[in-house]
Amino acid sequence: MTPRLDRYLSISALDVERWAFDVFLLNTPLVESIRQTIRTQGPQSFAWFMQQALYHPEHGYYSSGRCQIGRKGDYFTNVSVGPLFGQLLASQFSEIWDRLGKMNDFVIVEQGAHDGQFALDVLEFVQKRIPEFFDALRYRILEPFPILEQQQRRKLEAFEDKVQWLDSLESFTGVHFSNELLDAMPVRLIRNGMEKLVGLDGDQFVFVERPVNKTIFNQAALEFIDQIAANLQRGYVIAIDYGFLDDQFERDVQVRARHLNLDSSFEQIGHADITMFVHWASIVQRAQANGLRVAGFTDQHHFLTGIISQLESGEPSQSVLADSPKAKRELQTLLHPEMLGRAFQVLALKKNVGRKTNLLAGFKFGAESRSSLRLMPRIC
Ligand SMILES: C[S@@+](CC[C@H](N)C(=O)[O-])C[C@H]1O[C@@H](n2cnc3c(N)ncnc32)[C@H](O)[C@@H]1O
Repeated sequence: MTPRLDRYLSISALDVERWAFDVFLLNTPLVESIRQTIRTQGPQSFAWFMQQALYHPEHGYYSSGRCQIGRKGDYFTNVSVGPLFGQLLASQFSEIWDRLGKMNDFVIVEQGAHDGQFALDVLEFVQKRIPEFFDALRYRILEPFPILEQQQRRKLEAFEDKVQWLDSLESFTGVHFSNELLDAMPVRLIRNGMEKLVGLDGDQFVFVERPVNKTIFNQAALEFIDQIAANLQRGYVIAIDYGFLDDQFERDVQVRARHLNLDSSFEQIGHADITMFVHWASIVQRAQANGLRVAGFTDQHHFLTGIISQLESGEPSQSVLADSPKAKRELQTLLHPEMLGRAFQVLALKKNVGRKTNLLAGFKFGAESRSSLRLMPRIC
């Protein structure tokens, strides 16, 4: 018996189940449960399918805690680039706190906090560099998934007195922040009066088209805006994501796993991320209909450059631009137009902070983007 065959035999004897392992993830419990619903109830909307794939209570890509972000995970985000992103945003939050009169109990609500890394980067920076702001600050994380809350609690142990977890949004004054949350919200695939539903051909998932009267495809994102508008008493909303204005909007979903773009949403269901570009115009229209006003819209390159220039002109003690090669690489990744600088946009909304207030630091270089925003005429 060759040593090779010997190894083969011992594995097969000890681990019979390995041979039944579903390497292509075609018959997992999640896939079976999706098939079962379609078999009994007929084709389902893509929003429902996306909800199952990402947020099924037990098997969803996010809700199971399976999603890994960063070099060893499925994709990068601004947060996974390093602490600089959180530090720059902390500076922007500090300016907002200043603008609201340096109030006590200034609340940062984060939604889509994943493992809590952004919160940690913000809190460590503020504690060290802006202690007065740290004293006034309360950090809230709105987290629907227990497994992610556990990860966040572990990561933020040192700040247990500062951070509180919410099941639903509560009335607050301060900032609501999200990075790459809107693109992860379920969408329907509606175009030109037709909707693509998820059906079955045998065991294979297929798209089937049906006429539809509705045009709203991003209901979850619009309801998210409703919730914020109803609870924000005074302050700002900052949402960072990748998307398009109305006229260039692409309705294609992206599917990513291990830093590769997959060809279909039906590959690696529950083990891959599914996202859709954000349709900024409809988000803004909904926000305005709910009494929020646009405080700025620009790309990430301009946004972060504005914050940095404010920092550099202010207190030297607040400068975050450490002179290390690592910090320079982080800065380049976040700012460079060919990297994350142009891929992401930043939308700021505001409520009850006065019409005539100056632009926030992040928007002071965004004039070019603002003037092209025919769809967002009410920036003030
Ligand atoms: C693309 S990840 C971004 C994570 C993190 N913000 C970052 O930039 O690294 C999207 C996150 O949004 C979370 N999420 C999706 N819907 C949510 C909701 N309604 N409320 C809170 N978090 C949500 C997911 O669980 C996931 O952690």
